[in-house]
Amino acid sequence: MTDPDTLEPVRTNEVRWRGRTLLHFSGCDYFRMARHPALRAAARSVLSGRGLNVAASRLTTGNHPIYGQLELELARWFDCESAVVLPDGYLAPVAAAQALTGDFTHALIDEASHGALVDASRMLDCPVIQFKHRDALDLAQRLQNIGQPSRIVLLTDGLFARDGSVAPLQAYLKVLPARALILLDDAHGVGILGENGRGTLEHEGVDRRRVIQCGTLSKAFGAYGGMVLGVRSLRDRILGRSRCFIGTTPLPLPLAGAALAGLRLLGSAGARRVRLRRNAGWFRAGLQEAGWECAETPGPIVRLPMCAEKVSEAVKLRLLEAGIYPPFLRYGAGSPQGAFRFVISSEHTLPQLRAALGALAAYGSAPRTGTMASKSRR
Ligand SMILES: Cc1ncc(COP(=O)(O)O)c(C=O)c1O
Repeated sequence: MTDPDTLEPVRTNEVRWRGRTLLHFSGCDYFRMARHPALRAAARSVLSGRGLNVAASRLTTGNHPIYGQLELELARWFDCESAVVLPDGYLAPVAAAQALTGDFTHALIDEASHGALVDASRMLDCPVIQFKHRDALDLAQRLQNIGQPSRIVLLTDGLFARDGSVAPLQAYLKVLPARALILLDDAHGVGILGENGRGTLEHEGVDRRRVIQCGTLSKAFGAYGGMVLGVRSLRDRILGRSRCFIGTTPLPLPLAGAALAGLRLLGSAGARRVRLRRNAGWFRAGLQEAGWECAETPGPIVRLPMCAEKVSEAVKLRLLEAGIYPPFLRYGAGSPQGAFRFVISSEHTLPQLRAALGALAAYGSAPRTGTMASKSRR
């Protein structure tokens, strides 16, 4: 594996790449909060007043009050009983799984789950069975094969970054045994989905009783850090049993300060979510009008069908000519050939969205190599 190209964000929607400044339609800074003056000021203020880090686990001498404050505000923001902050989003499901080790006879995992969940599943100390991507019928079949009595945990992403689809939580809960739990990696859903940005649960109309929601502060919230949202007893168990909580230095203090600023900014501004939805809907509709089949997904991730290699190369060139960095990804095993995946921001302007649509329009009916991996739904 060679090093990836370097890419440097320079302005709200632009990056420096190979000496050029190009429009940017990738990354997960959905609201462009990572460069927001309020977050930068919060990080600076904490840095100058309190320093860089606590240099100790929270369970020894590193439990700075800012972490408790952040957890309190997270619990309020997400309307849940308690929150635990982890050094990053990858560790959030791992910490939750370490807290739950030994509780389950079987884990079922969506085959397209993020690596964080794959690693988390290995911490559960039980057999792990894959089911087909977003397929509640396949899940039901596998549950039938397991039989009774069993204690089940299901692991899935909420909003899948590879194609923008959403896990059908309602359908899963219908087929899961009554006492089963869902361990949800909602890294892309938190702050984005649902009326109040509370993520995939809110979008799917599912309450928290049977779902542990994990997330990151590095995407919608523009800062950094991981979170586990759940009941107080889960929090107690993470503090008591999760090695990646017990044995790590917590989030650097300025990032905790920036996360608080990000939460407050996004909380008070549903307007950002409205702009994000409007932009993504407008862009998707424009693509469909130009002949691209792209799924009706509720978030800001717009993946195009895989094209013949010659077509992909032509589209890349066309985008570069239009001053746009080509967001072409080989994302996971489902897409070894790669595909274009546009990530829309609330801060993209209409002329910027039009520029991307203009570059793509001519290829709307160019030859494809396959259909979308899965038909997504709202
Ligand atoms: C689905 C998913 N889970 C977890 C993570 C990890 O989050 P973080 O970057 O905060 O470690 C990512 C990051 O890209 C992700 O896409």
